[in-house]
Amino acid sequence: MQQPATSIVILTGAGISAESGLPTFRDKDGLWEGHRVEDVACPEAFARDPERVQRFYNLRRAALATVEPNAAHHALARLQQAWPGRVTLVTQNVDDLHERAGSTGVIHMHGELRKVRCGHCGQRMEWLDELHTSTLCPVCGRGRGLRPDIVWFGEMPLQLEVIEDAVEASGLFVAIGTSGQVYPAAGLVQVARSAGAATLEINTAQTAVSGCFDSHRVGPASVEVRRWVAGLLDR
Ligand code: APR
Repeated sequence: MQQPATSIVILTGAGISAESGLPTFRDKDGLWEGHRVEDVACPEAFARDPERVQRFYNLRRAALATVEPNAAHHALARLQQAWPGRVTLVTQNVDDLHERAGSTGVIHMHGELRKVRCGHCGQRMEWLDELHTSTLCPVCGRGRGLRPDIVWFGEMPLQLEVIEDAVEASGLFVAIGTSGQVYPAAGLVQVARSAGAATLEINTAQTAVSGCFDSHRVGPASVEVRRWVAGLLDR
């Protein structure tokens, strides 16, 4: 009787989108070099100067139209389609490159740049244009309520229970292009280890949690993710 195929959980970070041209956060010229989190990525900043926060996300939302998925995004979509076991794709990224490469059921634990939500009526909606404090909510008609559907510092990441359940049931946990500096995402490798899963880190450099992984592939995601997926599917 053939063993059921291992279920795989993949966690991606900004590094997987770097070769598509989207800046990471903590590398040289990263987003946090040009901006302070306290000024653009927390509820207090939005309360203090909402238009400055909207400007920061309007720029990032507009950049989405100028970039394409890279070979790493396409390789993960191929894995999801061809692997006989369950593949759960969790991302800290707010871009839509996984979906544009063909991945499905992507769990955006830090929210999505292409979505906004209204602080008055709670409605979430697709939004590709600029957003300003004066923009009225198309559902409830009120102003000064629409905000990017992004999890800011100090807010709870999304779908944590679903993610932890998937990691606990997995046989393999793979972290790609993340510095392992932001929890709870950075702690998922420990959840995987306690569940007896094998762990793999794919990154161009050592990270804060490299020591927690059984194995490592060091190099650019566009090369190493494609090779890793080919090794799984084409053997
Ligand atoms: N291929 C693989 N890894 C890469 C590449 C690449 N081409 N380029 C950069 N990296 C790696 C870096 O070595 C680093 O470990 O990607 C990682 C990027 O780290 P961060 O900039 O910290 O991004 P991330 O880990 O996704 O940040 C987590 O922090 O600011 C918050 O909410 C934000 O979701 C983000 C979270």
